[in-house]
Amino acid sequence: MSNLEGILLRPPLLEDGSATFRLIDSCPPLDMNSRYCNLLQCSHFADTSVVAEANGEQVGFISGYMLPNRLDTLFIWQVAVAKQARGDGLASRMLMDIIRRTQCESVRFIETTITEDNHASWALFRGIAQSLSTQLHYSRWIDRQKHLDNQHESELLVRIGPITQITESTKSKRNENF
Ligand SMILES: CC(C)(COP(=O)(O)OP(=O)(O)OC[C@H]1O[C@@H](n2cnc3c(N)ncnc32)[C@H](O)[C@@H]1OP(=O)(O)O)[C@@H](O)C(=O)NCCC(=O)NCCS
Repeated sequence: MSNLEGILLRPPLLEDGSATFRLIDSCPPLDMNSRYCNLLQCSHFADTSVVAEANGEQVGFISGYMLPNRLDTLFIWQVAVAKQARGDGLASRMLMDIIRRTQCESVRFIETTITEDNHASWALFRGIAQSLSTQLHYSRWIDRQKHLDNQHESELLVRIGPITQITESTKSKRNENF
């Protein structure tokens, strides 16, 4: 039996803001946001974000949004899985939950940023590209010295796609995997 059984995935609500704040705090190397920022993620960006809940406790969160000037691109902002829920495919399942939503029907590309040394994050997004039978490319974007006052590692821009129309076979492949 998968440990993922019994974990509920759903779009966040405003009421999830505080739990999200605490989860992000417990998931280094993620940057802390203000509580206000988490409230906006849980409301304005709810259609492209997800909460994972086990026994009423938030154990996972992904924030994302559609790029304002490129509505075929879903930008993934942060991915957080509580320590006790890691290693069972929860992050992958949460990401696929967002992509499968009708609100994401126009999504042809996924973008995110990853620091060079975040191996779990690279594995997560490479796995997603593979599940969607598409390519992953990356390029330099946010630079430690130029944009981050030398206070944070450089962030590489990762782009996955094109994601083609979801066929019946992809759907069943996705259901097998997630
Ligand atoms: C990154 C994170 C979200 C992964 O969550 P998860 O639910 O354990 O991830 P999954 O089980 O879906 O695993 C996805 C892939 O990453 C791999 N992976 C997970 N943890 C890993 C680690 N520490 N090192 C290397 N690979 C790892 C898995 O093996 C899997 O690859 P596979 O499909 O080839 O088997 C979680 O470790 C986390 O919250 N880390 C702290 C915050 C962070 O770094 N977030 C990512 C920044 S966007």
